[in-house]
Amino acid sequence: MKQKGLRYDGSIDKYPITEGEVYCLDNGSRITIADITLELPEFSEKADCVFIDPAGNKGVLKAYYTKAEKECPVQSFDEFVTHIKKCIEQIKPDRLFVECFARNKTQIIKMVESLFPCVKIYNNTYYHSPKNACWIVQGTKQPEDWKLEGMDEWEAVFKICEDVPFKAITDFFLGQGLVAEAAFNAGKVFYGSDMNRNRLAVAINRIAKRGGDWTINK
Ligand SMILES: C[S@@+](CC[C@H](N)C(=O)[O-])C[C@H]1O[C@@H](n2cnc3c(N)ncnc32)[C@H](O)[C@@H]1O
Repeated sequence: MKQKGLRYDGSIDKYPITEGEVYCLDNGSRITIADITLELPEFSEKADCVFIDPAGNKGVLKAYYTKAEKECPVQSFDEFVTHIKKCIEQIKPDRLFVECFARNKTQIIKMVESLFPCVKIYNNTYYHSPKNACWIVQGTKQPEDWKLEGMDEWEAVFKICEDVPFKAITDFFLGQGLVAEAAFNAGKVFYGSDMNRNRLAVAINRIAKRGGDWTINK
């Protein structure tokens, strides 16, 4: 049968996650398919920490919808940020970390400032290149410095999962699973979702390769 959509590394053949299925680990971690403009998975609300790396602008967002074989329902990037903010308000985490880029930095900082009294901005990079600048915008209830300054996003997420004393972390743009991998590595609970099943399958496979034993609930 011809596979639809971009297949990434083909993990979808091994872990053919479908709408409504929840992949679960013994420690309570969960992964499912969800488009946050429609609804946030209920389990996300159990998290006390959020890390997200959203699309940087409307063009990139549209491309993600195309890759997921879905219609982009939002008319502007501001509208998408409103959806993100609603999700955070629903989760009510103690701590929020949002990775952003030059093109969406202003909107993301504004959003985090509207949700938390203390905001800290770290200068970071992605894909381990100093040419790739990004920022991690942190929202907390008290001032906190988790020493993420200058780190690549990969190491920064692993450090957050090791050092920050959360009970569970959620990423509703989980993609290929950086947050899931980092939380699993630190022995912590994660709740992940994404609208793209092919990308989630990569995340599921990565956790399995690290020794995670998945069961599937409907
Ligand atoms: C920059 S990537 C995140 C990468 C991720 N940190 C990783 O480890 O692969 C953004 C992700 O957001 C997802 N996404 C975009 N719009 C979404 C929406 N409305 N609902 C759910 N997921 C969405 C995309 O499918 C993509 O996987």
